[in-house]
Amino acid sequence: MNFETLLFEIENGTAIITLNRPEKLNALNKDVFTDLDDIISEVLNNDEIKTALITGAGPKAFVAGADISEFGGLNLAEAMALSKRGQDIFLKIENSPKPIVAAVNGFALGGGCELAMACHFRVCSDNAKFGQPEVSLGLIPGYGGTQRLTQLVGKGKSMELQMTGSLIDAAEALRLGLVNHITTPENLIAKTKEILQLIQTKAPFAVSKVIECINIAVICDSAFTNGKTGYDKEVEAFGECFGTEDMKEGTNAFLEKRKAVFTGK
Ligand code: COA
Repeated sequence: MNFETLLFEIENGTAIITLNRPEKLNALNKDVFTDLDDIISEVLNNDEIKTALITGAGPKAFVAGADISEFGGLNLAEAMALSKRGQDIFLKIENSPKPIVAAVNGFALGGGCELAMACHFRVCSDNAKFGQPEVSLGLIPGYGGTQRLTQLVGKGKSMELQMTGSLIDAAEALRLGLVNHITTPENLIAKTKEILQLIQTKAPFAVSKVIECINIAVICDSAFTNGKTGYDKEVEAFGECFGTEDMKEGTNAFLEKRKAVFTGK
């Protein structure tokens, strides 16, 4: 598959998605959104893809935000539509039953931080910088950042970061729980792939249910969950796992003291 604004390859079941506008620090414009939307559909629909990682091209940036040059002249309705479009694509990533991890290789600002936060978790290089600097532009985050940063780092720190627009480095992001691992720029993709390979040895249905239940844990609005709590969802998903071949294989393998071989059934 060929895309204008991103690179795509599949390696050992992992889709490697690279946002590719390095001259604009991979800023998210309309074309990037179209390509990102399409590539996530491919991740969801292509059986060859088990896991995915998203990174940015070039040594400097993961994504330096929404493309500010497209903001000029948007009226209220158009600005709301842009926010909704970004939110919808990022929700598609967050709710993907296949793990999608951000490999953050530099600036992850504004929409870039929001994209990283929509992924299931984040690995970053030691030169990464995170922030929601929108208030400096007279704006607020519009692609889920007010919600996800609060979920990830807590209310007080989220308030401060979004009110000051200050950037934080990789060490602070790790301390706050915004990223799970820091590595060198050279090792970033290898480290992320290594974690995804480990996940690929697990039962895919069970992994997808972990994503679903954890996502519900941070959604406080029961309107989005048909009135179910995360605990209700966990009961249901736990029961569903018992209907899979992989659950039988996993438990039998343990009792027979051998390594489980999962088939995704
Ligand atoms: N939207 C559009 N273009 C962007 C961009 C964005 N969010 N971020 C960077 N670019 C462009 C710059 O305009 C520049 O383009 P040019 O070479 O055609 O002038 C190019 O990318 C390189 O960026 P530059 O600012 O020259 O790099 P730098 O190393 O001096 O600074 C940043 C890096 C990340 C600190 C700086 O680019 C920045 O502050 N970007 C905006 C961050 C932001 O506010 N994001 C939230 C948007 S809602």
